[in-house]
Amino acid sequence: MKHQLQTSRRHFIKASVAALGFPTIVPSSVFGQNAPSNRITLGVVGWGMQGPGNTNAFLAEPDCQVVAACDLDKKHLAAALTKINGHYNNTDCKAYSDYREMMARKDIDAVMLAVPDNWHGLISIEALKNGKDVYGEKPLARTIAEQQAIVRAVQKYQRIWQTGSWQRSQDRFRIAAEIVRNGLIGTIKEVQVGLPSGHNDFAGTKDKMQVSEPPADFDYETWIGPATMQPYIEGRIHKNWRWDYNIGGGQLLDWIGHHCDIAHWGMDCDNTGPNEINPVQADFPPRTDIWNTATKYRAETKYANGMSMTIAGGHPDIQMGTKWIGSDGWVWVDRGGFDASKDELKKAVQRRQGDKVVSGFEAPKLGDDIIKKRLYETKGHQRNFLDCIKSRQPTVTPVETAHHSATPGHLALIAMTLKRSIKWDPEKEIIIGDPEASKLLGREYRGPWKLEA
Ligand SMILES: NC(=O)c1ccc[n+]([C@@H]2O[C@H](COP(=O)([O-])OP(=O)(O)OC[C@H]3O[C@@H](n4cnc5c(N)ncnc54)[C@H](O)[C@@H]3O)[C@@H](O)[C@H]2O)c1
Repeated sequence: MKHQLQTSRRHFIKASVAALGFPTIVPSSVFGQNAPSNRITLGVVGWGMQGPGNTNAFLAEPDCQVVAACDLDKKHLAAALTKINGHYNNTDCKAYSDYREMMARKDIDAVMLAVPDNWHGLISIEALKNGKDVYGEKPLARTIAEQQAIVRAVQKYQRIWQTGSWQRSQDRFRIAAEIVRNGLIGTIKEVQVGLPSGHNDFAGTKDKMQVSEPPADFDYETWIGPATMQPYIEGRIHKNWRWDYNIGGGQLLDWIGHHCDIAHWGMDCDNTGPNEINPVQADFPPRTDIWNTATKYRAETKYANGMSMTIAGGHPDIQMGTKWIGSDGWVWVDRGGFDASKDELKKAVQRRQGDKVVSGFEAPKLGDDIIKKRLYETKGHQRNFLDCIKSRQPTVTPVETAHHSATPGHLALIAMTLKRSIKWDPEKEIIIGDPEASKLLGREYRGPWKLEA
């Protein structure tokens, strides 16, 4: 209760200041806090593959100060402190191994979370309850039930949320979605979401598949968190956890929050989802394998307005990236390029790295006479989060968007696991007439962890 009062007082002061026409960010001292300046104070959780990249972007913003770092691996935590305190040339950034202690700090405005998917639900909700605005990662969570709990918490505690689906902050992806939204390829019939296949050995640990004792400087018990306890095997811990369904969701769920996110942007489906999901193909290694996530997969989904979406990895007819096919042409976009069926929608730009052509097509800059409805343009994904913390306006990838972007991937995984079609009610967010499939919307938590919002 004490906490809620503090949160609402903070809201009230910010709202009052905004009403007077002053910048909404006010010195933290107004709230009885100890921040060294009127910068947005940020705590970061998770210093693995993505945490440092996100943090570097925040360190580069002069109106943000990273004041706390948390990780369960002492080596990663030490690296975080070296980087952050080295950047500011001081020792102000404090180290935490328990995220709850960090979240309890009243002088932290916002947090960046880059932890494995099994932890997204609990850490996000703890942050939101403690009044923090959150920059979280994709997919929104490991299960749809956890995603729903995060959405509820963001709404309940009225917090700003940005998801790390950073393609929304890149011109090429936004312009592609604008072309589609402005009807320049006619009515959308079919959408193709091409994702990677197989497994990548991101940590260089593919040969470390033996059971061993966890290192003394790593809190493995907490790292497993609400997932099922299983023996420590280095090859399925840092970075490579995504190939184990106990913690992550394979290539499908690692990427759905990028290319389905862009697909939905063009389809105007940020607040809805498919109503039918048909599994077409899935190569699942035995569940007992250390890396057990589907290597090659394909599902067809249908949306209420007659659009269909194919989600596939390892199927050469579905190109990596997002392709919208309409009644009057098509547009394709990916990190590697942009292409369209019509000459006026594509501009050939040969970008070179040394002697090599690295990109064939760049999205064209189209005028307001052609693009009548512009989509949300940011000055950078992390910058957008900071701007929205000040303005209290939604970010380019708010929590509801992230939830809907990842949901088709979760549903495809359920359908592929059960090898049968499922019907989804995107309004009520329930699977229709299939109790066994409905059970897979969530999962049991290992005690003492509990999902509550
Ligand atoms: N947006 C992108 O382009 C992008 C790219 C890569 C990863 N990601 C996402 O970022 C998240 C992290 O992925 P990663 O590849 O960096 O993982 P990682 O394994 O490399 O790093 C995760 C870090 O979190 C720490 N950690 C785990 N549980 C914790 C807890 N309870 N408290 C504190 N620290 C904890 C681990 O010790 C590790 O240092 C995932 O959700 C992933 O999907 C996003």
